[in-house]
Amino acid sequence: MYWDKTHETMPRPALEALQLERLRETLRAAQNSPFYKERLQQAGVTPEGLGSPGDARAIPFTTKEDLRTQGLGLLSRPLEDMVRLHASSGTTGQATVIYYTREDIATWAELLARSMYMTGMRASDVFQNMMGYGLFTGGLGFHYGAERLGALTIPAGAGNSRRQVQLMQQFSTTALHIIPSYALYLLVTFESMGVDPQDLPLRLAFIGAEPHTEDVRCRIEEAYGLKAFNSYGLSELNGPGVAFECPEQNGMHVWEDHFLLEVINPRTLEPAAPGEVGEVVLTNLSRRGMPVLRYRTRDLAALLPETCPCGRTHRRLSRIQGRTDDMLILKGVNIFPMQIERVLMAMPEVGANYLVELTRENFNDLMTVKVEVQQEFFQEDLKYLKSLQKKITNALKSELLVTPLVELVEPQTLPRSEGKALRIADHREK
Ligand code: COA
Ligand code: AMP
Ligand code: ZN
Repeated sequence: MYWDKTHETMPRPALEALQLERLRETLRAAQNSPFYKERLQQAGVTPEGLGSPGDARAIPFTTKEDLRTQGLGLLSRPLEDMVRLHASSGTTGQATVIYYTREDIATWAELLARSMYMTGMRASDVFQNMMGYGLFTGGLGFHYGAERLGALTIPAGAGNSRRQVQLMQQFSTTALHIIPSYALYLLVTFESMGVDPQDLPLRLAFIGAEPHTEDVRCRIEEAYGLKAFNSYGLSELNGPGVAFECPEQNGMHVWEDHFLLEVINPRTLEPAAPGEVGEVVLTNLSRRGMPVLRYRTRDLAALLPETCPCGRTHRRLSRIQGRTDDMLILKGVNIFPMQIERVLMAMPEVGANYLVELTRENFNDLMTVKVEVQQEFFQEDLKYLKSLQKKITNALKSELLVTPLVELVEPQTLPRSEGKALRIADHREK
């Protein structure tokens, strides 16, 4: 039932004592990074000065902007000690890059093994990982975790729907890691191949990387004949394996021996009351190469006040209910409107106006980008317009990592809009 009973069921006072000890260690490590050395000094925070995990509130918040601008200044060990990096969203100098030491990779794998074991996965399972490998953390993160647990691990990666179904059939897959909207979209492929997922030995699915509802979970469970568990994490704090649902399927346990959890009111920045939705703030307690302190995730969720009947003492978070910034998630890929703006405005053929529409058709997320062409480039030549459309599509795809549908429109035909937010219309039902 437990992968690591001692830590998972630790009485709260002992857990908090462990948090304090690890927080101090983390601060000592962080003091070796130029960025935190200065931050902590300015705030007058020292490891020895902390009397309880709650004293971490004296540490200033870290933001995505800090990670974007500070780069290697966040490392608390020499670059040569790092064995891996992952990066999230944005390829043109705006990506946030996270570096891991060998020890950090092992800790992360341990957390994912613990998470999957909690749901009932065992070494006898066959695990098919359908997340993006490469720079996304969902690929290699879960991969190492599943291997650590001892399951036969299929590094299927994202996309290639027919092949995914064939792999499940050929290797008798029992557990999946899959983006929830894609799980529903994939049913069309099952149908076209004449395969009923219910006839396969599938029994577990780990779903995450994008917000989804209880209704979506239920649909996945019914269609596939399995139990689906919500999985939460973010690259800045390793990746997946920050919080995970237990067999109760009611809220995600945050692994509090590895992460210091706060939920704050995003306006006052004071702690939110238990049960109240606020912004999740997390501090690494066990990452040594690049610890991140009081990271403002921008994710909105509530702390569940009751203790969990499963016996674990780590507190639970509700489903993620939204964001406090304008980040969008499409097919499990994070997109900031600014990235779209930057790509379009760098092209001389593109006018000042554009409109982005997000729709969900049969669980397939589509992004349509309507672009006004500058007067001098707008011509009758269809071939030219087609090549321009392709050029814009490729430029957006290479920045965003998802393929948009680009529509070219005549100059001055899109409604004028003030501010970025109005240029993005998200019509996907939640
Ligand atoms: N996950 C996996 N595959 C997906 C998907 C999703 N969310 N959404 C669509 N796909 C499949 C499509 O069905 C298609 O395969 P098929 O033609 O064999 O059916 C293939 O991916 C490409 O689809 P397309 O619509 O052309 O994709 P794109 O260029 O817009 O995006 C993806 C490419 C899907 C590969 C990219 O969005 C991706 O890597 N998503 C996963 C991100 C991820 O792992 N996030 C986890 C972060 S921890
Ligand atoms: P990334 O940094 O690419 O791993 O993306 C992390 C972000 O994806 C988080 O900050 C959330 O906004 C979102 N996310 C990850 N898991 C979930 C989940 N289970 N439910 C809702 N959103 C999620
Ligand atoms: Zn539980």
